[in-house]
Amino acid sequence: MTALQELPRQPLGFLPTPLVELKRLSRFLGGPRIWIKRDDQTGLAFGGNKTRKLEFLLGDALAQGADTLVTGGAAQSNHCRQTAAAAAASGLECHLALGGTAPDEINGNLLLDQLLGAHVHWCGEKRKGEDIPLICERLQAAGRKPYIVPYGGSSAVGALGYAWASQELFAQLAEMGERMSHMVFASSSGGTHAGLLAGRRLCAQECQVVGIRIDQPAADEPDFVETILSLANAVAARLELGATFTPDDVRLRSEYTGAGYGVVGEAEREAVSMLARHEGILLDPVYTGRAMAGLIDLIRQKEFSPRDSVLFWHTGGGPALFAYAEALLRGVR
Ligand SMILES: Cc1ncc(COP(=O)(O)O)c(C=O)c1O
Repeated sequence: MTALQELPRQPLGFLPTPLVELKRLSRFLGGPRIWIKRDDQTGLAFGGNKTRKLEFLLGDALAQGADTLVTGGAAQSNHCRQTAAAAAASGLECHLALGGTAPDEINGNLLLDQLLGAHVHWCGEKRKGEDIPLICERLQAAGRKPYIVPYGGSSAVGALGYAWASQELFAQLAEMGERMSHMVFASSSGGTHAGLLAGRRLCAQECQVVGIRIDQPAADEPDFVETILSLANAVAARLELGATFTPDDVRLRSEYTGAGYGVVGEAEREAVSMLARHEGILLDPVYTGRAMAGLIDLIRQKEFSPRDSVLFWHTGGGPALFAYAEALLRGVR
């Protein structure tokens, strides 16, 4: 087995993140015990799950002698904001392929991208980094050494961050004398999900790993379960875990994608406001708001027993709140 500690990693985050129980939320919902792992507090430019992936991606980029990071995502991508911060903190240039066109008003993550010095390339309909290879070619022609950070940071290298996170979590739980029956989180490009599956195996734990799907599948995209599986198997191979994951290992709840990616509905509004008002915790409108809405529904549907303990991974995204003010406040007073 290869120890995670032996792989190239550039420390970027404030780790370990806090692990706390949400007693008021559990009482309000009349549900199982609920815990939260505060990966919104990973520290890099307002934090989030990408910090952990970027530690391994930057380790790899620097080992390869890269001088520039290139990635892509939606205009309000948390991943792009964190990649811009990781580049700045490591002395690299950063190029972002963002979906849409330049807006009149710059706020949320986009404002932070600019403050962090990233070069933004507007890519219209293409919001999943489709133009990354083109940008790389141009950079190479100009004599730079670009490193591709894949969409969402979800490669086998990036997903190692969540195997690392699993070790951190299970060590905290052992110290507290607690055991989780389930962990629930937002699953979008699959790296977090894959890393957690590999991490559970690495730590020899039983906890159920339940992803709440955020995006509706596009017709031309590979099957998402297959994507998660191949990433999880690639992480397992890299760590020499001697494990092969099968579709039965992937628990993915796909019924909470609402009106599509980034469309805030009643369920997301309720979840964001419930966590804010009962726990003083801010979720984001696109990922953790939707994932928490899924968890709230699963609790209401009695999918958990009172003896269960459910961990929610807060994967960040807070800066996007400011870009969704109108949608979040609709009907909430
Ligand atoms: C705040 C937040 N949570 C969760 C996710 C989903 O993580 P993954 O892409 O690893 O599935 C993202 C992805 O961008 C995110 O920004």
